[in-house]
Parts: sequence; structure tokens; C-alpha cells
Amino acid sequence: MLKVVGASWAQTQLSWCLIIAITLLGLLAFYFGGSIRNEYDGKYAATAFWSKEFGMRIDFCGQNNDPLKVRKGVARAYYRPDLSENGWAVLEIETQAEYPDIVQAKAAGYLEGSLTWRMIYWHWKNTVENTCIGRKAFCDRIRKYLEENSIEIKQTARRRGESDPFWHQVNMFYMQLRALEDGWRFGVKRSRQDIDIPSVDFLWMNIMPDLKNFEQKFNASKDFNPDKPPVSATLVKIVGTNPIDFVLAQSASGYYGSMLRIQKRYNFGFHETESEDSALVNGKIIEFTSYPGSIYSQDDFYKVTRKGSKPETTVVGTELQNNNRQLWEKIMKKDQVLLGARIMAANRLASNSKKWYEVFSRNNSGTGNKQWLIISTNSTSIAFGVIEQMPGIVSYEEQSKKLLSTGYWISNSSPSLKVSCLKITLT
Ligand SMILES: *[C@@H]1O[C@H](CO)[C@@H](O)[C@H](O)[C@H]1NC(C)=O
Ligand SMILES: *[C@@H]1O[C@H](CO)[C@@H](O)[C@H](O)[C@H]1NC(C)=O
Ligand SMILES: *[C@@H]1O[C@H](CO)[C@@H](O)[C@H](O)[C@H]1NC(C)=O
Repeated sequence: MLKVVGASWAQTQLSWCLIIAITLLGLLAFYFGGSIRNEYDGKYAATAFWSKEFGMRIDFCGQNNDPLKVRKGVARAYYRPDLSENGWAVLEIETQAEYPDIVQAKAAGYLEGSLTWRMIYWHWKNTVENTCIGRKAFCDRIRKYLEENSIEIKQTARRRGESDPFWHQVNMFYMQLRALEDGWRFGVKRSRQDIDIPSVDFLWMNIMPDLKNFEQKFNASKDFNPDKPPVSATLVKIVGTNPIDFVLAQSASGYYGSMLRIQKRYNFGFHETESEDSALVNGKIIEFTSYPGSIYSQDDFYKVTRKGSKPETTVVGTELQNNNRQLWEKIMKKDQVLLGARIMAANRLASNSKKWYEVFSRNNSGTGNKQWLIISTNSTSIAFGVIEQMPGIVSYEEQSKKLLSTGYWISNSSPSLKVSCLKITLT
């Protein structure tokens, strides 16, 4: 007997209804799901509060905040981690001048570390985790130096920060970095991750320009050809004199592996020294191109302003190569301050390029050697200074007239100040 295997008309009808209903539900879910996701703006905010009794507390406010309405506390941060838009994540941190500088530095570091913990971890994986494979002796030596150097420098900075602006800023640099590490550990724990970065590697993430010279000193470079000339260059060109205007192009000598980039804007209410009646620093707002976990640029581009006022100062560095091996004898001393802390001190304290030079040249580490251009403009004039650093020497020249008469300046990794050669032969 032949039996028709199939569904009744009513059953078929029901299945069709079900299929259509499910499809519709799916479409609806897709539509609303998509648009609900789009309602998040991808920008995270957080505020650090502090009181003498209770210490530091962080409020994470998630996404969709009006940046102006994020509560100020000691410090507030605004962070957009998405790199897919233009290759840059963005981080802004603002601290309030009525709190002690130490509290501001800690709050800023804590916010940065806890908000950007994921990018810091990726960056560490990319650039630091495997860097010691095949050169353990070198790494042990560097780590030992970093630890000894930072202990010594922090001690001096604490002792002298009371009255000496340079050492106070160096102290704030290390405070902020230490808090960044604490914040990172907090962020990781808060997200229930089981990952770790050794403590000394937070220092390591902040010495990339110095590291190149340590490698040269010990012949420990991982580069195929460590003696090849650096590839960084800078061009400054005057494009208008009334009002004064210039364009600047810079190629930094970074590695492709360090592709995780963050544009940072630190607006800190720091004072010149630790004492309570000291004035606010001149370089209150520092905007720079940077990397996760790094509290200065490391590819040498800064814009420094004081709130709402001209002049505005651009600071840009181009690598200088040292081919005189003897000069490496002068680096890696305990009482030298590595590049990052000196740059940030100079950026904060200087009101002109000569002052920048005076701060920057103190306790010169002789590592991360560059030619620095300090360009300050207001609507009527331009001031231009050139600073060059090598082991044992930093030199300076005011070059405004030359810039205006030639109309441009090129930095191409070779020194241009004659005085530096003279001084080296004299000492
Ligand atoms: C590095 O190499 C140079 C030249 O090849 C040599 O003169 C120098 O002694 C080496 N330095 C070390 C620390 O091995
Ligand atoms: C570093 O600074 C301290 C304190 O100002 C000073 O005594 C020392 O000579 C400096 N060292 C170098 C190498 O500049
Ligand atoms: C800004 O303008 C004033 C005059 O209004 C001038 O004296 C000063 O040198 C200028 N500063 C810079 C950095 O160009």
C-alpha cells in the first residue's frame, strides 16, 4: 500500500507561520541589536576622588558621557580605545590644581593604568615580552640598572623636590608611572583577567629611546644592522608671516611592531615645586603622540600650551646617531636622569627655548640622543631654538633669525650646532 508521508494542510500552514515569525524576530533583533550597539559612543570616562581620610577612590562612568559633565574630582579621564577609525586611540586626563601635586600625579597615573590596561597588555606583548629571548645577560644588566637608577633618582627627587623645580617634576614623573602600574593591576583585577606584567617592565615601556643606546653600548641590538643610520627626519617650513604660520612634518623612527598608538592630552595642575605657595607650571597642557603605558611621547612630538593663552609651543625631536664608541662610557650612571623625565620636566617648566634647554640638560643621561626643535608662536612672532644632546653634553642655539631668513629647517639625524663639536674636543 502506498502511504503518503507528509503534513496536513493545517500543519504546513503552521510551519510557514512559524518560519515567517522567526525570520521577522531575527530581523527585528538584528535591527535593534545593531542600533542599540550604536548608541554607545565608544568613549569611556572615569573620575578619581581623593580625601585625606579615605584616600583614593575611582568612579568608572562607562560610555555616553558628556565630557564637560564628567565630575572633576582630583582627576578625570576620557578615553576612546577604538583604533579602527584613524589608527589612534585617544586619552585625555585633567587634574585639579587645588590638590597636592603628588595626589594629582597618582590620580592621573591610576586613571590611565586602569582605563587603558588592555592596550598596555597588548603593547607589552608586542614590544617587551619577547625582547629578552636570546639576550638574557643584556636584559638582566639593563633591568638591574633601571632598578638601581630609579631608586637613586627617586630618592634625590624626593629630597630636592621641595625647592628645586627640576627635581620636583622628576619626582612627579616617577609617581605617575608608579600609579600607572597600580592602576593597571587594578584594571586587570576588575576585569577578572589572569595576566601579569613584571613591575620593572613598566619602566622598560618608558625607556624605548634610551634602550637603543644601551643596546649599542653592549652590542646587544636585535636589529639586523644596528649601525644603520636612523630614519627619522623633520621639516619645518614657514608658510606665512602675517600672521606667522608654519607647517611641520616629522617621521619618527619607531618600529612597525609598536603599532598601538594613543594620542594623549595631559592637562595637569602641577606646581613648580612641592611647596604650597609655588606657582603653577607654565606648560600646563601637554598634547603628544604616544604609546600604551608610556607617560611621554617616545616618538618625540609635543604641543605645549598654557590654558587659553598664547604662545603655543611645539617640541619635536629627531634622532642623532653617535658613532664614537668611547662616548658610551659616559652613559648608564646611577645619578643620570633618563630621557622621559627630563623632557616632561622641560615641557612643564620652560617658558622659552633657553629655559627648556636649561632644564633638559640637567643630569643628562646621554641616551635617546636627539636634535630638539622648540618652536613658539603667537600671532605676531615666532621663536625658534635648537637643542642637541649627546653623552656628556647638551648644546643650545637660538635660531629664530635663521629660520625666518631661510624659511625652513631640516633635521635629518646629523647635528647642526658647531658648538657641540668644539665643546667635546675641549672637555
Ligand atoms: C662591541 O663591538 C665593538 C666593535 O665591534 C667593540 O670594540 C666593543 O668592545 C664591543 N663592546 C662590547 C661591550 O662587547
Ligand atoms: C645629578 O644631580 C645631582 C643633584 O643635583 C648632582 O649632585 C650630580 O652631580 C648630578 N649628576 C650629573 C651626572 O649631572
Ligand atoms: C608674542 O608677542 C609679544 C608681543 O606682543 C612678543 O614680545 C613675544 O616675544 C611673542 N612671543 C613669542 C614666543 O613669539
